[in-house]
Amino acid sequence: MSLVPPYIEALRPYEAGRTIESVRQQYGLGHIAKLASNENPLGASPKAVDALTHTLQNLNLYPNGGLDLRAVLASEYEVKVENVIAGSGSEGIMSNIIRTFLCDEDEVLTTEAAFIGFQVLAKSRGVKYRTVPYRDWHYDLPALASEINERTKIVYLANPNNPTGTIFTRQEFDVFYRHVPERVLIILDEAYFEYAKDNPRYPDSMHYRYDNVITLRTFSKIYGLAGIRIGYGFAHEELIGNLLKVKLPFEPNTLAQAAGIGALADKEFLHRSLELNARGLQLLTSSLRDLGLTVVASEANFVMVVLPDDEQAASLTNDLLTHGVIVRPLKAFGLPQCVRISTGTDEENQRCVEALAKCHAKMGV
Ligand SMILES: Cc1ncc(COP(=O)(O)O)c(C=O)c1O
Repeated sequence: MSLVPPYIEALRPYEAGRTIESVRQQYGLGHIAKLASNENPLGASPKAVDALTHTLQNLNLYPNGGLDLRAVLASEYEVKVENVIAGSGSEGIMSNIIRTFLCDEDEVLTTEAAFIGFQVLAKSRGVKYRTVPYRDWHYDLPALASEINERTKIVYLANPNNPTGTIFTRQEFDVFYRHVPERVLIILDEAYFEYAKDNPRYPDSMHYRYDNVITLRTFSKIYGLAGIRIGYGFAHEELIGNLLKVKLPFEPNTLAQAAGIGALADKEFLHRSLELNARGLQLLTSSLRDLGLTVVASEANFVMVVLPDDEQAASLTNDLLTHGVIVRPLKAFGLPQCVRISTGTDEENQRCVEALAKCHAKMGV
């Protein structure tokens, strides 16, 4: 008899993308462009690094559970500290949401091929996981609303979405929200919100708050702090209060919290990162379309390319490695015919386009 529940046995282990080192060794190449994990190609926010180095002398002391960062966020967003949580990345908070709110008979509802991190967390809880297909690579909010039943407990929506890069609009969300009973918790994952926030159609969820909505954000993307694990969320104080009971008492760690506070003050880095990303999106989208490839218009820091079939997606991913360009195949997400390419530095983007042109010519599609 297995010691492991069947729903854990059925999980596929997370397949991390190729590392720079492994590709460098395999192909004997110099510079590798890692455009696979939606990281910030400029590195970490300098103010974040500065702030964390100043806390190094306090590492003998336990952290305070994210209280300092929560206070800074509360003041910046004009909410109460009780409405804010900080955790080990937004995935750390997502994991606590799964543990806090789901009972065995509850169901989770989201789109097909949703962000892989959420898929794994929800499936590891052993509850029923239901999905609705994309409509033109967008969340189909009307279809999701009609799929809510008496067992639905959590609806997960990423906006902008990973891996498609698309958004749903404020108007679409408002219509959807009217169909969601109060007993259903909506996770609004806004990991890429900084990239989309200047789009007037984007429903930045801090502009309005609902009692059954949890907004999740992260320092991993635009602030370049993926390696230190720091994210945050906003919700009704009752929801946050229950999450605080469940989370590890000393999460987030001291360095992560300091880095988050430093990053929030780094408006110059934010601005520079946004400008670089806008150039990258423009170049990747237009050049790849010029090659005849199908590229989904993106509001984040990556683009999704839809290939004619699974084999072509796999062979494109492998061919790009030989040119020193790492992209993300989306088979594990549930989209084996697609690849995702993150924006890099200007040089990396250019190199990616040139490599893609060569690989594409070889494929003859
Ligand atoms: C939609 C989405 N949510 C959450 C995350 C994870 O963020 P964090 O590093 O804060 O756990 C990612 C990272 O790729 C993401 O794409």
